[in-house]
Amino acid sequence: MTAGAGADGPRGWRAAAQEALYGPDGFYRRSGAGPAGHFRTSVHASPLFAGAVARLLCRVDEALGRPAELDFVDMAAGRGELATGVLAALPADVAARTRAYAVELAGRPAGLDHRIEWRTEPPAGITGLLFANEWLDNVPVDVAEVDPAGVPRTVLVREDGTERLGEPVAGAEAAWLARWWPLGDEEGLRAEVGLPRDRSWAAAAGTVARGLAVAVDYAHTAAARPPFGTLAAFRDGRETTPVPDGSCDITAHVALDACAEACALPGTRLLAQREALNALGVSGARPPLALASTDPAGYVRALAGAGEAAELTASGGLGDFGWLVQPVGIGDVLGG
Ligand SMILES: C[S@@+](CC[C@H](N)C(=O)[O-])C[C@H]1O[C@@H](n2cnc3c(N)ncnc32)[C@H](O)[C@@H]1O
Repeated sequence: MTAGAGADGPRGWRAAAQEALYGPDGFYRRSGAGPAGHFRTSVHASPLFAGAVARLLCRVDEALGRPAELDFVDMAAGRGELATGVLAALPADVAARTRAYAVELAGRPAGLDHRIEWRTEPPAGITGLLFANEWLDNVPVDVAEVDPAGVPRTVLVREDGTERLGEPVAGAEAAWLARWWPLGDEEGLRAEVGLPRDRSWAAAAGTVARGLAVAVDYAHTAAARPPFGTLAAFRDGRETTPVPDGSCDITAHVALDACAEACALPGTRLLAQREALNALGVSGARPPLALASTDPAGYVRALAGAGEAAELTASGGLGDFGWLVQPVGIGDVLGG
């Protein structure tokens, strides 16, 4: 069961967050700065990220035999910052063959590069790269909590954020928990039921006819699920109490191993962002000190780049993000 009482009463977190984030006046539907106004993704942290994704697109291009038209899909594009950065970073001959799409529920921002097609669904039959940065953590999910008798129940929430327990988790959601996030019988243990994310990812990755589908997110795997879940909220750059009233982002880390299996493709890899970015040439190594005397401006630029690379690959930060990398009809393009 995904909802509890009617629209006026408490509902499951999935229904409540769906309306709070994507309803007519939802958090992500409003105009303005978009996600960048509330939190910092890798895309906002440094142009090095878009540069690395552009290099990944070039490797996919090579693996595809340099097709006449190469697709780049920025899935859950925010304000299209990644698509913009990738187009800017591509070599001219690849950019000339690239069809860029930004897939987003919010409206097209004014002034976006006219080469970027803005849509609410990915195009069918993609030949190229579909890249979803911090999408799946915003696909709403229900939360299960173990009651005093040891039974996992769906958590119901009111618009003011107060919670109570609903019915026992049943059906496909119970099967998902048993397979991916078994809860013990200790009262208070919690889990996010990732089934809607598995389905969303399988549908998005399924639009790639040939090439690569990549999902990047805060993630955990079966070996280390957090015992009380990870439901969280952000507003104006700060973490805040999750309240499904449209005033804040509502997010939870992603069971990327479950998403991987939902779209079982040979050659699938799950790795940390620091490994993926290292494989794409992003390194936090400081420039040699000797450069400071021969080329002071170059040294300062290289130092700034190293600082940004360090942020993108940091332990305890963006470097711990998971990259789910799924090739469709091509070999390994990351190496390593
Ligand atoms: C955390 S933001 C990430 C934005 C951007 N990818 C970045 O990394 O900066 C998540 C975005 O996903 C969008 N989104 C959520 N579900 C979506 C869907 N089904 N289709 C398209 N966009 C979606 C939201 O509107 C929001 O802009």
